[in-house]
Amino acid sequence: MKTKILKINPDNIDKELLNEAVKVIGDGGNVAFPTETVYGLGANGLNEDAIKKIYIAKGRPSDNPLILHISHKDQIIPLVKEISEIANILIGKFWPGPLTIILKRSKIVPDIVTAGLDTVAIRMPDHPIALELISKSNVPIAAPSANTSGKPSPTKANHVIQDMMGRIPLIIDGGNTGVGLESTVLDLSTNIPRILRPGGVTFEELKKVMSNVVQDESIISKDIKPKSPGQKYRHYAPKAEMLLFTGDIQDIINKINTEIEKNILQGKKVGIMATEETKDKYNKAIVLVSGSRKKPETIAANLFSTIRELDKEEVDIILAEGIYTDDIGMAIMNRMIKAADGKIISV
Ligand code: TXA
Ligand code: MG
Repeated sequence: MKTKILKINPDNIDKELLNEAVKVIGDGGNVAFPTETVYGLGANGLNEDAIKKIYIAKGRPSDNPLILHISHKDQIIPLVKEISEIANILIGKFWPGPLTIILKRSKIVPDIVTAGLDTVAIRMPDHPIALELISKSNVPIAAPSANTSGKPSPTKANHVIQDMMGRIPLIIDGGNTGVGLESTVLDLSTNIPRILRPGGVTFEELKKVMSNVVQDESIISKDIKPKSPGQKYRHYAPKAEMLLFTGDIQDIINKINTEIEKNILQGKKVGIMATEETKDKYNKAIVLVSGSRKKPETIAANLFSTIRELDKEEVDIILAEGIYTDDIGMAIMNRMIKAADGKIISV
């Protein structure tokens, strides 16, 4: 399949270019588009055949449900059985934005979207191109992250091009995404609201609105079975083996330096995921900086692209510095633990 790339400026959307994407969605095709979190791979969320193509393009297991993206708040009404009071409050406070909520689904949502579950995940993204595409298509858009299944989510059009060239008809290049990590997935379908995947809207922020919200234990543990189907697969995985170091930062630096020596003696090429504050502490390795410890949102924004860059460097092993799990740090550590396939070294 030939893939067309459309460059669209999010601050000044060219309506004619965008209409090409609307047409592809209308014809049952797939379009990769930017959101404020990561790039999504979209299809008409009510068209089963169009959604099937997403699973094929990504190589995604069919038991992993998709998020429906909407462009105005009322669009949720026909998609769910009931909107609880707390759901309404959260929608008012966090939409548009990086919060996905899970509610009992209505009959019009195709089984293929929910992978047969009786619930559906919905969010309203905070990105002008995403909102315009959904609004002009006049349907909810089903969209997982636009990466090959198992790879880090795309935060630049180039990442989508790497993974999806020849597999989908159209990619909208709308520049870099903002948050850099996927949305928070919050299950509101049971009595106690539960975060299944941490993301841009943090536990701390949600706690201010509902004191009974909990985080699923699987978020930072590798031994507990996740409730969200998508969280059980290896994710965000670099080609190289990755080790994640947690603890006091000076101890992390010392331990990583010992590991560098050990791996170099074994003839391995070593990559380091460091931060602004620590980048000069390492020698004899390829040191990439994801962001600043003082501004964890910069680490979030660059995490996935740093993993992809280390792949390009063809390192044999990645030694990654852990950070705190407060606020957005929880989402960052969740992704790093998954990328490292649970190989955590506490120092
Ligand atoms: O930021 C995001 O959420 C991005 C952008 C494109 O919007 N999308 C995204 O989609 O990350 P995806 O498919 O890569 O991740 C969706 C997650 C998966 O872990 C999936 O298992 C979970 O949401 N999910 C979807 N529907 C669910 C449901 N009914 N119950 C439990 N988990 C669900
Ligand atoms: Mg994904």
